[in-house]
Amino acid sequence: MASTKFDLSGKTALITGSAGLLGMEHGVALLECGATVVLTDLNKAALDAAAARLGQDFDRSRFHVVEMDVTRPEAIAAVAQTLASQGRRVDVLVNNAAIDPKVKGEQGVRETSRLENFPLEQWELQIAVGLTGAFLCSQVFGAAMARDGKGGVILNIASDLSVFAPDQRLYRVPALPEDQQPVKPVTYSVIKTGLVGLTRYLATYWADRGVRSNALSPGGVYNGQGEEFVRRLSALIPLGRMANRDEYRSAVQFLCSDASSYLNGQNIVMDGGRSAW
Ligand SMILES: NC(=O)c1ccc[n+]([C@@H]2O[C@H](COP(=O)([O-])OP(=O)(O)OC[C@H]3O[C@@H](n4cnc5c(N)ncnc54)[C@H](O)[C@@H]3O)[C@@H](O)[C@H]2O)c1
Repeated sequence: MASTKFDLSGKTALITGSAGLLGMEHGVALLECGATVVLTDLNKAALDAAAARLGQDFDRSRFHVVEMDVTRPEAIAAVAQTLASQGRRVDVLVNNAAIDPKVKGEQGVRETSRLENFPLEQWELQIAVGLTGAFLCSQVFGAAMARDGKGGVILNIASDLSVFAPDQRLYRVPALPEDQQPVKPVTYSVIKTGLVGLTRYLATYWADRGVRSNALSPGGVYNGQGEEFVRRLSALIPLGRMANRDEYRSAVQFLCSDASSYLNGQNIVMDGGRSAW
C-alpha cells in the first residue's frame, strides 16, 4: 500500500499555467493524492478543455478552473481573495506557467530567437510570466501559508536547462546560414536558473513558518516533435529517449506532499540522466 504521507485529502493545490501540457499532468497528480485542485491559466478556452478532460476521471467538485494571468498582481490578489472568501486555503502552490516559444528557423527570415536579434519585448514578456509570475504568486499565496502558521509547499517548475546551457546543435536547420540558425532563446536559461534561486530564497525565508519550497527540473517531454530533433535529443540522454508526459506525476506527488517533508530548497532534476553525461 502507498504511504499515507502522499495523502493530500483536505488540502487545496493551486497550479498556474495548468491548461498546458504539463499543467494538466500536475493536476492529475495532485487529484490522485486527494487534493482539491485549482487550475489557473491565462487561456480560458484551454482551461475549459482541460477541465472537460479531467472531468472524465475525477469528480467535478474536486477541481475548479479560474482564469488568472500570473503577470498581473491584481488578478492574483483577486483569486486569493475569492478563494479565501470560500473558506479555501491554498496549501500547495505549483508555479508552472511559462511561455516557451517553439524554435523553428526559416530561409530568408531574420531569426529572432538568436541572442543578437532577441526582441526586448519578448525578453520582458517571457520573464514576466516565467519568473516574475512565480515571484508574484509566491508573494501572495506563500505569504498566506506563512501567515497562519499551518505551512505549505511551493513547487517551482524549472527545467533541465536550469543546470546546463542549451545545446544549440539540437535546433540546427540544414542549409541555413549561421546567422539564421534558430536557437533556444536566452530567456529560457535565465528564467529557469532564476527559478532555482527563487526556490532557495523561499525555502529559507519561510522555513520557520513550515513553508517548504523545491524546484522540479523536467527534461524534454515527447509531444510529437520532429523525428530528427527527437533523434538528436535522445542521443544526449542516457535513457535514450524523451520523457512521457505522465512521468513527472509521481515527482509532483512526492514534492507537494509530506512524503518530502524534510526536502527543502532543492532542485530535483529529472532528465533521464542527461545532466549526468
Ligand atoms: N514540455 C516540456 O518538455 C518541458 C520541459 C521542461 C520544463 N517544462 C516546463 O514545464 C512548464 C509547463 O510546460 P508545458 O510544456 O506544459 O507548457 P505549455 O506551453 O503547454 O503550458 C504553459 C501554460 O502557461 C500558460 N500561460 C502563458 N502565459 C500565462 C500567463 N501570463 N498567466 C498564466 N498562464 C499563462 C499558457 O496558456 C499555457 O497553458 C513550463 O514551466 C515549462 O517551461 C516543460
